Amino acid sequence: MEIGQMKIGSITLDNPTVMAPLAGITNLPFRLLVKEAGCALVCSEMISANGLVYGAKKTHALLNSDPKERPLAVQIFGSDPAIMAEAARIVAQRGADILDINFGCSVRKILKSGSGSALMRNPDTAGAVLKAVRAAITIPLTIKIRTGWDNSGDDAALIARVAQDCGINAIAMHPRTATQGFGGYADWRQIKALKQQLTIPVIGNGDITCAADAQRMMRETGCDAVMVGRAAIGNPLLFEAIIARLAGGSPPAVDLQKHFGLMRRYVADTVAYFGELHACRMLRSRLPWFVKGMRHSSRFRKDATRIETHAQATALIDRFAQLQAVAGL
Ligand SMILES: Cc1cc2nc3c(=O)[nH]c(=O)nc-3n(C[C@H](O)[C@H](O)[C@H](O)COP(=O)(O)O)c2cc1C
Repeated sequence: MEIGQMKIGSITLDNPTVMAPLAGITNLPFRLLVKEAGCALVCSEMISANGLVYGAKKTHALLNSDPKERPLAVQIFGSDPAIMAEAARIVAQRGADILDINFGCSVRKILKSGSGSALMRNPDTAGAVLKAVRAAITIPLTIKIRTGWDNSGDDAALIARVAQDCGINAIAMHPRTATQGFGGYADWRQIKALKQQLTIPVIGNGDITCAADAQRMMRETGCDAVMVGRAAIGNPLLFEAIIARLAGGSPPAVDLQKHFGLMRRYVADTVAYFGELHACRMLRSRLPWFVKGMRHSSRFRKDATRIETHAQATALIDRFAQLQAVAGL
């Protein structure tokens, strides 16, 4: 019953599910995968504004997209208003539907440059960045925040107010502090407080592991959409389950054949995008995500380290799928 379209500025999402940006993971082939599983909005991994403005080839490659994944959000990080504005223009010119700014990353290298969650404790810089970027582009603009630098202040409320006043179209919140990193738990009450404070849409994020969690987050916080990160890495069909649950239906039965079908598609897309050799090296560590917790997964992980060709990767999945089918009898 709770399912419905959601709007971020001029962009309409088919349902209220969003894939979290994950550095090193949410590349184009991965985004196509979750899109196929029903996720309404995918996001690039965080991209350096400096890298875009100074023309770094590898950084620009992160903007590559495919019509099938749209609408696409692209996330940038940085702290210099002029550079962020120029990077935003580049992103918009390359066809992104939404620009997102990273206010949440707590990795030391990012913090040292005043970017990511360092912006949470510097509202003046944050305001200058948001104003400059807002003036530079017409596509919807969003930010992804944490609750603050630490527990001592009211950083999220302050930044959110600044952001809304600057004309930002939605805010995603991962309710942990920067100093907390990924420890403890995500305090969903902070998402509720943010939702009550703002008139723009709020996207809730943090510790969703199953469809029931997503439904509970929406009920408890009133957030407009849910954003899923780690739990979707090896389980793209989680989006399908969340959508069914939010629509009031019973979640579809676990469909392993569909899951393995998506894995094969992921392999094919990764090979097509990165080239066979590079793709196979990446797939050695990525394919095991999809079999975590299943019977014989340690054997799969071991065999995956030897993948050298597309055919070998597919054969490995086929063999494993057969083993699961036999185990399920
Ligand atoms: C490996 C990894 C990479 C991440 N990369 C990014 C990123 O590029 N940009 C960002 O805003 N958040 C990033 N995050 C944070 C996630 O987007 C998300 O906020 C966090 O994982 C909490 O959601 P979850 O509990 O559903 O995983 C990353 C998290 C992980 C685990």
